Amino acid sequence: MSGDPIARPEPLSLVAEQRAAANTAASALTHGHPSSATPPAVTLEGVQVSFGDHVAVRNVTLAIPARQVTALIGPSGCGKTTLLRAINRLHDHTGGSVEGSIKLGDIDVYGADTRPELIRRRIGMVFQRPNPFPAMSVFENVVSGLRFNGVRGRALLRDAAESALHHAALWDTVKDRLNQPAVGLSGGQQQRLCIARALAVEPEVLLMDEPCSALDPIATAKIENLITRLAADVTIVLVTHNMFQAARVSDQAAVFLLGEDRVGELVEAGATDELFHEPKNPRTRDYVAGRVG
Ligand SMILES: Nc1ncnc2c1ncn2[C@@H]1O[C@H](COP(=O)(O)OP(=O)(O)O)[C@@H](O)[C@H]1O
Ligand SMILES: [Mg+2]
Repeated sequence: MSGDPIARPEPLSLVAEQRAAANTAASALTHGHPSSATPPAVTLEGVQVSFGDHVAVRNVTLAIPARQVTALIGPSGCGKTTLLRAINRLHDHTGGSVEGSIKLGDIDVYGADTRPELIRRRIGMVFQRPNPFPAMSVFENVVSGLRFNGVRGRALLRDAAESALHHAALWDTVKDRLNQPAVGLSGGQQQRLCIARALAVEPEVLLMDEPCSALDPIATAKIENLITRLAADVTIVLVTHNMFQAARVSDQAAVFLLGEDRVGELVEAGATDELFHEPKNPRTRDYVAGRVG
């Protein structure tokens, strides 16, 4: 990221202000904005993830509000990806061990009776680099999760694919090439395809790990617009090291920094505009001002 505050195109607080104003206008229009009484979609309490003796991230207590965008921000290496992967049990395959409590609604994500496949169906994931299945067509990519879950029936799959591609703002682009290889799409289109693939199984939560980091500014803007629209239906947890992106698209933000012992930790969380305007923790203040990171 650009560490130089002078190089920034517009003040962070201004971006957050515009977003707050847009949110207020949108909620006045739709009456759909969740009130603070809505239970969190995901609740983390005292979460710590380690690889062997190495603690990657610790002290994470955070409520992720339903149908809003929560940004996890912070410099490289402070455990954002590691934490994100803990939420849908991807560390079952990385050797990472997760301590503390993570709940999806009332369900204990790591409960003895909780099936990891169920968690991963209800909590979808989009990765840093677009990763469509290379041997599959556009259509087969989108319906792959449904097929995995045992859904059969051409009409059902076709309707689900069309709906997911509409939601991912990709339908008009691919409707005439559904049977062509997914790898023929541009990088930005491939990432929207991966979003459609994640949405097709109708998850409640979508985890996105720096989904724009491999994309150009135009493709990035499309994904950011999409994130804002998707949050009407889906809870979004967005990892980004770009504070401007967090200010543009997120309602809540959580700042992660490395402690003196090089362990990542949650330093401060709150409404994005407040966090960027009036950070309470001096470490957050330095990070937001571009003095660390
Ligand atoms: N699979 C793994 N095995 C061992 N260490 C890992 C693994 N994944 C991440 N780490 C370590 O966890 C720490 C946090 O990394 P990461 O979550 O990727 O940070 P971020 O996403 O904030 O850049 C780093 O020290 C990294 O080396
Ligand atoms: Mg990462």
